[in-house]
Amino acid sequence: MTSVIDQGAARVSVDDKAMLNARADVNQLLPLKYHWAWEKYLAGCSNHWMPTEVAMQADLALWKSPGGLTDDERTMLKRNLGFFATAESLVANNIVLAVYQRITNPECRQYLLRQAFEEAVHTHTFQYICESLGLVEGELFNMYREVPSITAKDAWALKYTRGLETGEDDQDFLRDLVAFYVVFEGMWFYTGFAQILSLGRRNKMVGIAEQYQYILRDESIHLNFGIDCINQIKIENPHLWSPEFQAEVRGMLTEACALEVAYARDTMPRGMLGLSAELCEQYMHFITDRRAQQIGLVPIFGETENPFPWMSEAMDLKKEKNFFETRVTEYQTGGSLDWD
Ligand SMILES: [Fe+2]
Ligand SMILES: [Fe+2]
Repeated sequence: MTSVIDQGAARVSVDDKAMLNARADVNQLLPLKYHWAWEKYLAGCSNHWMPTEVAMQADLALWKSPGGLTDDERTMLKRNLGFFATAESLVANNIVLAVYQRITNPECRQYLLRQAFEEAVHTHTFQYICESLGLVEGELFNMYREVPSITAKDAWALKYTRGLETGEDDQDFLRDLVAFYVVFEGMWFYTGFAQILSLGRRNKMVGIAEQYQYILRDESIHLNFGIDCINQIKIENPHLWSPEFQAEVRGMLTEACALEVAYARDTMPRGMLGLSAELCEQYMHFITDRRAQQIGLVPIFGETENPFPWMSEAMDLKKEKNFFETRVTEYQTGGSLDWD
């Protein structure tokens, strides 16, 4: 059995660790090289929450009351939930099937394990919402196959996971990181967040709105982890970030932005809650430019004005004085396992 462990190997030094094709021992967390990954792991743990801590009675009453929501609001809400219900699984699968395989340094893997669990919590959220409101589960979980603007987004992202199953190319992996962290989690969740938080700001579906705030808080760390990974890979492998590749990534962001604008139109054909397709388009241009800058690219649209400034407030949950007052569960910290 000892033959699978190299007993004579030198002790790991930080210089042996790398973002891609690392040869250092995958089982030795210390010494840390990528402190940003460890810090995100700690931040994720201190944000722990469960969807079942959020009361859903007010949401259920409003959902059941005939005049509680307009038809447009109901359509938007259902499509929004339908997109997220499967998107969380797509992201989780990409972590396990693609990212975890390629990023082998233990501090990034520690964060990826935490992120994978958070994606499971997010999927749980949609199961819990579906059950609480008595939604038709087949309708919700099939929207990624039945609503064209959702299918278009998911199919676009899935091809990057599939590409990794066939090759070992480092640029393919960078493309996958851009597709999932920058586009999926960093752009495509944001129209959905804006829609639900707008409902919440009007005191509608407040339970779901609270859950979305927690998801948004988690997702902003996922996005920042992905951006740190991409930028660190660029530093360690400058040949991958060629002018041709940068042009390709700009093309990916432009295409992804158009898909999101189409999704906004599809979910809100008439505009509502202070949101219109035009404002959502402007917002997506603003977000796309911000993401381009975060990975070192020049802005694509030149949109400097955020039409939804309240979104940045919603992201900074520390400002919410009563954020923790709604929590109903104390986490069990003592041991209570009974082995008899
Ligand atoms: Fe998520
Ligand atoms: Fe995520």
